[in-house]
Amino acid sequence: MSFIKYAVPALVAAQTAMAASCGSTDSTITIASQTDLDTYATCTTLKGDVEISSSASGDLTLSGVTSITGSLSCTGASNVTSLTASALSSIGSAFTLDGLTTLTTLSFTNLSSVGSISWTALPELQSLDFTKGVSEAGDVLITNTGLTSLDGISLTTVGKFDITENTNLKTVNVNELTNATGLINFAGNMDSLQIILPNLGTGTNMTFRNVSGVSIPSLETLSGQLGFWGNTFGNFSAANLTTTGDLVFDDNTDLSNISMPVLKTVNGGFQIARNDKLKEITFPDLEEVTGAIDFSGDFDSVSLSALTEVKGGFNMQSTGNFSCSAFKTLRENNVIRGTYTCKANTTDPTTKDGSSGTGTSTSTSSTSSSTSSDSASVMNVASMPALGLAAVLGALLQYAL
Ligand SMILES: *[C@@H]1O[C@H](CO)[C@@H](O)[C@H](O)[C@H]1NC(C)=O
Ligand SMILES: *[C@@H]1O[C@H](CO)[C@@H](O)[C@H](O)[C@H]1NC(C)=O
Ligand SMILES: *[C@@H]1O[C@H](CO)[C@@H](O)[C@H](O)[C@H]1NC(C)=O
Ligand SMILES: *[C@@H]1O[C@H](CO)[C@@H](O)[C@H](O)[C@H]1NC(C)=O
Ligand SMILES: *[C@@H]1O[C@H](CO)[C@@H](O)[C@H](O)[C@H]1NC(C)=O
Ligand SMILES: *[C@@H]1O[C@H](CO)[C@@H](O)[C@H](O)[C@H]1NC(C)=O
Ligand SMILES: *[C@@H]1O[C@H](CO)[C@@H](O)[C@H](O)[C@H]1NC(C)=O
Ligand SMILES: *[C@@H]1O[C@H](CO)[C@@H](O)[C@H](O)[C@H]1NC(C)=O
Ligand SMILES: *[C@@H]1O[C@H](CO)[C@@H](O)[C@H](O)[C@H]1NC(C)=O
Ligand SMILES: *[C@@H]1O[C@H](CO)[C@@H](O)[C@H](O)[C@H]1NC(C)=O
Repeated sequence: MSFIKYAVPALVAAQTAMAASCGSTDSTITIASQTDLDTYATCTTLKGDVEISSSASGDLTLSGVTSITGSLSCTGASNVTSLTASALSSIGSAFTLDGLTTLTTLSFTNLSSVGSISWTALPELQSLDFTKGVSEAGDVLITNTGLTSLDGISLTTVGKFDITENTNLKTVNVNELTNATGLINFAGNMDSLQIILPNLGTGTNMTFRNVSGVSIPSLETLSGQLGFWGNTFGNFSAANLTTTGDLVFDDNTDLSNISMPVLKTVNGGFQIARNDKLKEITFPDLEEVTGAIDFSGDFDSVSLSALTEVKGGFNMQSTGNFSCSAFKTLRENNVIRGTYTCKANTTDPTTKDGSSGTGTSTSTSSTSSSTSSDSASVMNVASMPALGLAAVLGALLQYAL
C-alpha cells in the first residue's frame, strides 16, 4: 500500500519531467493514448519524432503544440478514428499515416508546412479538415484513401506528387502550384477524376492514367516526360507548352483532339498510339524530336509542317487515308535520320516495337517480319527504354496495393 503512495507521485513526476523536456532531437516520443498526448499539452514545440503506436485507439487530440521538429507517424493503428492538432503549423519531416483503416477525421486546421506526406491505406478518410492548407511540402504520396478531393493540399511547390488508387477522388485542383521538381503521377483513381493545375508552369515528369480531364493551361516546359495512358478525355490541350521530354499518348479511347499549338521541341521520343477516335494530328510548331516519332492508329491526316529535325526513327502507320508524301520528302531531305516506315491505309497498323497500333482490334496480329526487323533497329536508336521504364513504374504504382 505504501508502495502505491510513493509510486503514483513518482510516476506523475516522471511524466512531468518528460513533458517539460518536450522531446529531444533524434529521439522518438511514443504515443499510445490520449493520456500520453495530454502530457505534451504545455509544449509549443516537440523536438524529435512523434510516433503514434498501433495499439492507440479512438479520437486523439494534440493540443497546444505548434510545431514538431521531426516526423509525425502512425502505422497500423486500425482503431484510431480521428486525429486532431488544431495549433500545429509545421511538421519538420515526414507526416506518415498507413493502415488507419477506421480513420474518418484528419483535422489539422493550422498546418501549413510539412517535410513530406505519405498517406496510404486510409479507406474511410473522405476529406481533410485543413483550413489553412499545406502550402509547403516535399514529396506527397497519397494512395488508397477515401478522399474525394485534395482540398487542404494547397501547395505552391512540390517534389514528387504521386496520387494513386484513391477510388473516390473526383477532383484535384491545386491552384497555387507553380513548380514541381519531381514526378507528378496520377493512376487508378476514380474514373471521372478531373485534374486542374491552373498555374503550373514548369515540371519534370508528368504521367496520367485513368483520368477524365487534365487541365494544364500554363505549363511551358517539362524537363522530363509527359505521358497519357488509358484516359477518357475527348480533348487535350496544353496551350503554352513549348518543350517537353518524351511525349506519349497511348490508349486514350475517347481522345479526338490534341492541341499543342506552340510545342517546338520534344527532347525524347514522341509516341501516339491506340487513340482510336483521333482522326487528325496537327502540331504546327513542332520543329525538333530528339528521339523517334512513332504514330499509329486510325488517323486520316497528319500535319507536322514545321519539322526540321528527327534524330531517331520514324514510324507512321494508320488504317486511315493520310498521305505519306510529305514525310517521304522529309526522309529524302534527311530531316528524318533513323529508320523510316510510313504506311497509310494499312489494315494492321503497328507501333515501332511491333505492338498493335489500334485499341479496339483484338487482332492476333501476324506481324510482317520485314516491319518488325525494321522496328527493332529503331528501338535501339530512340528512347524506348525511357518509355518502357515509365510504363513499368506506372504499372507498379498502380498495383502497389
Ligand atoms: C482494435 O480493437 C479490437 C477490438 O477491441 C482489437 O481486437 C484489436 O486488436 C485492435 N487493433 C489494434 C491494431 O490494436
Ligand atoms: C498557428 O500557428 C502559428 C505558428 O505558425 C501560431 O503562432 C498560431 O498561434 C497558431 N494558431 C492557432 C489557432 O493555434
Ligand atoms: C522550380 O523549383 C526548383 C527547386 O526549388 C528551382 O530550382 C527552379 O528554378 C524552379 N523553377 C521555376 C521556373 O521556378
Ligand atoms: C500563355 O503564354 C502567354 C504568352 O507568354 C501568356 O500571356 C499567357 O498568360 C499564358 N497563359 C496561361 C494560361 O498561363
Ligand atoms: C487504367 O489505365 C491503364 C493504362 O495505363 C489501363 O490498362 C487500365 O485498364 C485502366 N484502368 C481502368 C480501370 O480503366
Ligand atoms: C472538344 O472541345 C470542343 C470545344 O471545346 C467541344 O465542342 C467538343 O465537344 C469536345 N469534344 C469532346 C470529344 O469532348
Ligand atoms: C482542337 O482543339 C483546339 C483547342 O481547343 C481547337 O482550336 C480546334 O479547333 C480543335 N480542333 C478540332 C478538329 O476540333
Ligand atoms: C484518300 O485521300 C486522297 C488524297 O487526299 C483522296 O483523293 C481520296 O479521295 C481519299 N480516299 C478516300 C477513300 O477517302
Ligand atoms: C487509300 O485507299 C483509298 C481507297 O482505297 C485510295 O483512294 C487512296 O488513294 C489510298 N490512299 C493512300 C494514301 O494510299
Ligand atoms: C523522369 O522520367 C525518366 C524516365 O522517363 C527518368 O529517367 C527520370 O529519372 C525521371 N525524372 C524525375 C525527376 O522523376
